[in-house]
Amino acid sequence: MAVAMLDHERLTATVRALREQAATQLQGKIITVLSPKGGQGKSTLAKELAWILNGVLVDLDWDGGRVSRLLGYLADRYRTAPLLDALFDERGRPPRVYRSRNRPDMVPGHRDFEPNQPEPDAMADLLIAWNRALGRSMVVDTHPGGSRSTLGAAQAADLVVMPVILGTGELDAVEDALTELAGFNLLLVPNHTPANPQHLPRHESSRLLALAEQHDVRVADTFVRHHGWMTRRKVRTVISAQARHGKNSAALTHNMTALAREVLTHAA
Ligand SMILES: Nc1ncnc2c1ncn2[C@@H]1O[C@H](COP(=O)(O)OP(=O)(O)OP(=O)(O)O)[C@@H](O)[C@H]1O
Ligand SMILES: [Mg+2]
Repeated sequence: MAVAMLDHERLTATVRALREQAATQLQGKIITVLSPKGGQGKSTLAKELAWILNGVLVDLDWDGGRVSRLLGYLADRYRTAPLLDALFDERGRPPRVYRSRNRPDMVPGHRDFEPNQPEPDAMADLLIAWNRALGRSMVVDTHPGGSRSTLGAAQAADLVVMPVILGTGELDAVEDALTELAGFNLLLVPNHTPANPQHLPRHESSRLLALAEQHDVRVADTFVRHHGWMTRRKVRTVISAQARHGKNSAALTHNMTALAREVLTHAA
């Protein structure tokens, strides 16, 4: 019991310390989370990293499963749409940031962003300008696959984080994407991996490493475990923001703090 208490306190202290460190070390940086295929874990990584790294979470997805909705923001309840308002703001002001407990400060997404999304260069310029005006760092979550806004968010990024599931079709998609994203500072993050590294799919792991080498990009040291309970979690908050941890949330938070340290190193 005493040991469990200590572990729990150490974990929340680790998250607190990383948030403080990132607030200065990452200031002005943009981290974009993208993947060429849906359901790879973008929104999961984006929300947890945004919290641990103390950045503003910018939701550039427009589908129902977008991260701001996952975090409880229902766009229909509000008369204004911060992302769209900022896109069309004649004075170029940054979006209004939505704040709530145990969630990163965020720029919520909107279903009407799809037809209104700017061309890549314009999107990149806007993100850089907004980030400068907000004086923080940004973690940008994106719609799956290629789109104008996703490409723009990649262009604006100091680091592009790409979650990857070790499967045949998923790696086919990564292979094509790495060609399109040549020259970007990329970090590939294996997701849904088995708890025991000996159970990693051998062929797919080798294929990922070969692709990374061929395209001169990094594979994260942190492999994010498959956490079976996560899809059924009902609370719309960030897991690593929990004040108290059980075994499940602690395991996920350990994964995310390790990944956040890597992001700090490679983006700062
Ligand atoms: N490591 C993991 N272990 C267990 N479940 C996970 C893990 N990572 C993500 N998930 C679950 O998989 C589903 C898809 O994850 P997520 O929404 O983060 O993916 P996404 O890439 O943002 O999807 P989309 O392309 O639709 O935006 C969610 O239900 C999420 O809870
Ligand atoms: Mg998503």
